[in-house]
Amino acid sequence: MSESIVEILGLRKVYNGKNSVTAVDGIDLHVPAGLIYGLLGPNGAGKTTTISIATTRAIPTAGSVKIAGVDVVAHPALARRSIGVVPQFNTLDRSCTVAENIYFHCRYFGLTKTEATARTAQLLDQFRLSDRAAAYPQALSGGLAQRLQIARAIAHRPRVLFLDEPSAGLDPQSRIAMWEAVQGLRGEGITVVLTTHYMEEADELCDRLAIIDHGKILIEDTPAALKASIGGDKIYDLRMRGVRDSGILKRNLQTIEGVTRVEVIDGGLRVLARAKDGLLAKVVTMANEFGLRDLTTTEPSLETVFIRLTGRDLRE
Ligand SMILES: Nc1ncnc2c1ncn2[C@@H]1O[C@H](COP(=O)(O)OP(=O)(O)OP(=O)(O)O)[C@@H](O)[C@H]1O
Ligand SMILES: [Mg+2]
Repeated sequence: MSESIVEILGLRKVYNGKNSVTAVDGIDLHVPAGLIYGLLGPNGAGKTTTISIATTRAIPTAGSVKIAGVDVVAHPALARRSIGVVPQFNTLDRSCTVAENIYFHCRYFGLTKTEATARTAQLLDQFRLSDRAAAYPQALSGGLAQRLQIARAIAHRPRVLFLDEPSAGLDPQSRIAMWEAVQGLRGEGITVVLTTHYMEEADELCDRLAIIDHGKILIEDTPAALKASIGGDKIYDLRMRGVRDSGILKRNLQTIEGVTRVEVIDGGLRVLARAKDGLLAKVVTMANEFGLRDLTTTEPSLETVFIRLTGRDLRE
């Protein structure tokens, strides 16, 4: 087992306002070094609160977070040396140029003028921002601004980079460029913890992920293992003209070899199956007798996993 670079134990955060809100409700999490690790969950799940505590920006109600073995509550200044953060909302300094945003970050973390100048030039090059070095942040596209935020966040060579909703508001092309920039960090030995409510992002980018909802982790694994937990590699959604005899159809479908599960969905049935030659034909023939109107075929996604666990859609 590789070293856990981020160790979260029994983490809780209750916001005491007029109505008290339990934003994080007992989270345990171990992030092995070197991974791109995702926290996937809907709005209000507690992702930002977890990141805020781990990055010393909020104090937990209970529990602990250690980064590279350092307790973030007991030793926040020391912990911050190992942490890079890109918050959910743009925090670039609008009064500084692109280059200065990185340079002053380096200086803040104790690099000499010479070191900071060299590191800035290297990061501008690595993140393909050199030709915009003298521009001001407000002149950058959303994608470039996000790349600059990442470049700045790793300027002091942290061991862990926290990215809170890194692709929120980015167009698809910028999102892919951002993914590439994040994947490039592997080579530098930086562990990445990111939050997202885009299942495609969690699936494409993350080595492991935790699905989080209402302040709790529901499940934690690799994207492939999470999808496999659905119990089939094909999903057939059968929309029926009438659903009067759906109980009988459901039982009949369950007898087909390869079918692992049949569920009632709006206007019909969902068949989960392990793909096999001739399986789809059998399903269609059987369903036709009961008035099949339409059929769609999909494969399990993290969305399917989330719905299975919560009964809700990630996007709701
Ligand atoms: N400063 C605060 N005071 C009171 N309640 C808060 C505060 N910050 C967050 N909350 C509440 O805590 C819960 C978790 O919020 P959090 O921002 O951590 O979720 P999130 O998963 O990051 O959501 P999003 O996808 O919208 O960014 C929500 O119910 C939110 O309203
Ligand atoms: Mg958030």
